[in-house]
Amino acid sequence: MCGIVGYTGCNQAAPILLEGLSKLEYRGYDSAGLAIESEDKIKVVRAKGRLHVLEEMTDNGRAMKGTCGIGHTRWATHGVPSVVNAHPHCNAKKTIAVVHNGIIENYQSIKAHLQKKGYQFESETDTEVIAHLLDSYYQGDPIEAIAKTMVRMTGSYALGILFFDQPGKVFAVRKDSPMIVGSTPEGNFLASDVPAILKYTKNVYFVDNMEIVSIGADSIHFYNLDQEEIEKEITTINWDAEAAEKGGYEHFMMKEIYEQPKAVQDTISPRIKDGEIVLEELGMTEDEIRKIRHIYMIGCGSAYHVCVSAKYVIEALARIPVEVDLASEFRYRDPILEEDSLVIIISQSGETADSIAALKEAKSKGAHVLGIVNVVGSSIAREADSVLYTWAGPEISVATTKAYSTQLAACYLIGIYFGKIRQTITDETYQELVEELMKLPDKIQRVLGDKERIQWFANKFAASKDIFFIGRGLDYGTSLEGSLKLKEISYIHSEAYAAGELKHGTISLIEKGILVVSVATQPELYEKMISNMVEVKSRGAYLMGLTCYGNYSMEDTANFTIYVPKTAKYFTNSLAVIPLQLLAYYVATARGLDVDKPRNLAKSVTVE
Ligand code: F6R
Repeated sequence: MCGIVGYTGCNQAAPILLEGLSKLEYRGYDSAGLAIESEDKIKVVRAKGRLHVLEEMTDNGRAMKGTCGIGHTRWATHGVPSVVNAHPHCNAKKTIAVVHNGIIENYQSIKAHLQKKGYQFESETDTEVIAHLLDSYYQGDPIEAIAKTMVRMTGSYALGILFFDQPGKVFAVRKDSPMIVGSTPEGNFLASDVPAILKYTKNVYFVDNMEIVSIGADSIHFYNLDQEEIEKEITTINWDAEAAEKGGYEHFMMKEIYEQPKAVQDTISPRIKDGEIVLEELGMTEDEIRKIRHIYMIGCGSAYHVCVSAKYVIEALARIPVEVDLASEFRYRDPILEEDSLVIIISQSGETADSIAALKEAKSKGAHVLGIVNVVGSSIAREADSVLYTWAGPEISVATTKAYSTQLAACYLIGIYFGKIRQTITDETYQELVEELMKLPDKIQRVLGDKERIQWFANKFAASKDIFFIGRGLDYGTSLEGSLKLKEISYIHSEAYAAGELKHGTISLIEKGILVVSVATQPELYEKMISNMVEVKSRGAYLMGLTCYGNYSMEDTANFTIYVPKTAKYFTNSLAVIPLQLLAYYVATARGLDVDKPRNLAKSVTVE
């Protein structure tokens, strides 16, 4: 999705903005642009394609003089990727420049209204209306013009704005699209995402919905929609700048796969004290936890897959019925939320538009909403009633790996903790599970040691047209994630099926030589899985088995077997997913694809 960076200070702005934009490349984009305040005008340079085109056009920014500016990477929604549709967009006199993340839903009616007043448009974008609307309201007071513009627009937006007659000032505003302001002694920053400014500062303000900011080289002022100044608190981000660098790996995805033991460790260990799980962050008393009658778990994509797996774990341990929903479905189906329901929204970015809408829907119905979120201060983190942070650090690769693993770990903590409080597990089981949970990071590390075999196998199947994943119970959840990982970065068609469903239609797709990845880690379902594997093998499938050490009979059926260490049956997903991430990675690299930035995908989906 689009990215915004702004800077005003004592250094040349364009090189800083380009560097910030390069840190947002992972979000996905198809064009980029800069607007820099110079002595006689606002200078705008825009380019289609990768950021290096813009870098070459501006001599890495050095050719654009000026210490105040805004930059943007665009992921096309309204209008094809092109120079005219790229941001920044300006008014006719080129005295106002705007960059925008989000979608202005009523842009057509605003455009028609402005056209009647004589405004002319050069792009197909919704963003251009903002520049002209600001122009129509601007009479020397930027905050007033911005507030009036906001009142006219529906949809979601984070805006960075320059007014030529307000030298040294960057203005910003947000509604349902993230925006932060960073403060340093050498100037102040605006960014849609933390990594863009992490090199310069960890001290940030989170811009809230419908707030307007005026940023000067040494001043930051916040206003509400009534144009009254408001006080905000500064937050310190605890991510390292190095965490957002590749650190010698060829791709962020591989680096992040390797960071999983640490990320899971960082998520689990602060919540286990003297062998006891401590989850004060849930903001719920033991009595409230005992009263929960229903849990709804909601997310999109991989976060949804975590919900699918967590359902098995939480239902088994805490004996609470768990309903799992895609955020995009939950938000529109007028869900029935009983009294004493807990709604858990899972999101890495905390900015996914559908997940935010689901959160609002749940809150409007009176449920306690718990966010499991990776990005501190993100919209979901701030709007949920309570937050359990996953400590994965910045995740740059579009395909999630370490955030997924930490989300699973957070759900295990909840399942075991609820089980103990509700006395649905014995003290002995509780202690065993806590001990086993603490061993998970080491076991993940051991699975990573098997990467050469997986690479060899991935090369063999890199030319596949279709690949199927099957599993039962928790292994079904793992299969869903394995299949998504593969298809999103390798562009190979893939489907995941609950193995028991095969005979209800899917088995007709099985042909000679097709790869079927069979996940079978659940002891009580192992024999059933072997039967399903035999069924597809007898129809010509090539079988990759994925099971725990000890289940060596797998080799009687599978053509190739990967083993993961034994762990509690509730946690096997955390180990089994690792070979599947590696499989996807190696298949994609064997096909020569850009694994970190797969086509058509964006890291955080901030529009519907
Ligand atoms: C897949 C992937 C996506 C995200 C989904 C939700 O690898 O990363 O499916 O899981 O877009 O994003 P968040 O977790 O940011 O809400």
